[in-house]
Amino acid sequence: MEVVILKNSDQVAQYAAELVGTLLKSRSDAVLGFATGSTPLALYQRLVADYQAGKISFKTVTSFNLDEYLGVAPDNPQSYRSYMNRELFDQVDIDKQNTFVPACRDNENPHDVGLGYEQQMRGAGGVDLQVLGIGANGHIGFNEPSSSLRSRTRVKTLTRQTLQDNSRLFARDEFQPKLAMTMGIASIMDARKILLLATGAGKAGAVADMIEGPLTAMCPASILQMHEHATILLDEQAASGLQNRDYYDWANVQNESLQDRFGLLADPIGS
Ligand code: GLP
Repeated sequence: MEVVILKNSDQVAQYAAELVGTLLKSRSDAVLGFATGSTPLALYQRLVADYQAGKISFKTVTSFNLDEYLGVAPDNPQSYRSYMNRELFDQVDIDKQNTFVPACRDNENPHDVGLGYEQQMRGAGGVDLQVLGIGANGHIGFNEPSSSLRSRTRVKTLTRQTLQDNSRLFARDEFQPKLAMTMGIASIMDARKILLLATGAGKAGAVADMIEGPLTAMCPASILQMHEHATILLDEQAASGLQNRDYYDWANVQNESLQDRFGLLADPIGS
């Protein structure tokens, strides 16, 4: 695990946008995994700005989103499809035919939709770079605590804490979905590279459990300890519960000097 601690959420977004930009420049047909939530919004704003400045293009990019609410139509502003269109897809040159969200229509069997989504990801050659956020309870995607560490795309019931955390995004009398389709933990782990972003004090506990706690289904993000190429980007607040903080900073100084001498040490995506 590479743990990078930056001053604030702006720097986290900038660092993440640079990594995505570097990938797109070396592989214009990259397969990107996208997350929703508040955390990646600043990253998407930077990607839009970089696209507008002519630095990057999404023309031949394929994307897979982590999750989607069940019982929320794609054109509902609360759907993650709407979120992605609004925050990124409508503002860049991506071909929407190549953007996938694990949406399950009312007449569809969620089990079949899950299998189909896994097939689509495999058919696209797998995800090169998966962007992740983290829930305050350690979830990734909507893989709530106690999710199988080998799970694949399927329906999950949201915990009361997640419903409470996300209730800020729904009006008082608006329907708030309690079920969602989500990539499984094994699906996420298949990505060649993982980039998890966490900002704010509310994530400090989950971040400490993910990085320094035991590998356990009770903190689904702790599975990233088993990923060969996982980078965790944190702001100071999200990093505030880490005990090994000095080491991460020290290791990054060493990594930078190694990179200066030898270039990128490991490129999981290749060219
Ligand atoms: C949501 C999403 C996750 C997201 C997490 C944190 O419910 N399913 O993909 O990473 O919770 O969201 P936020 O970034 O808004 O804190």
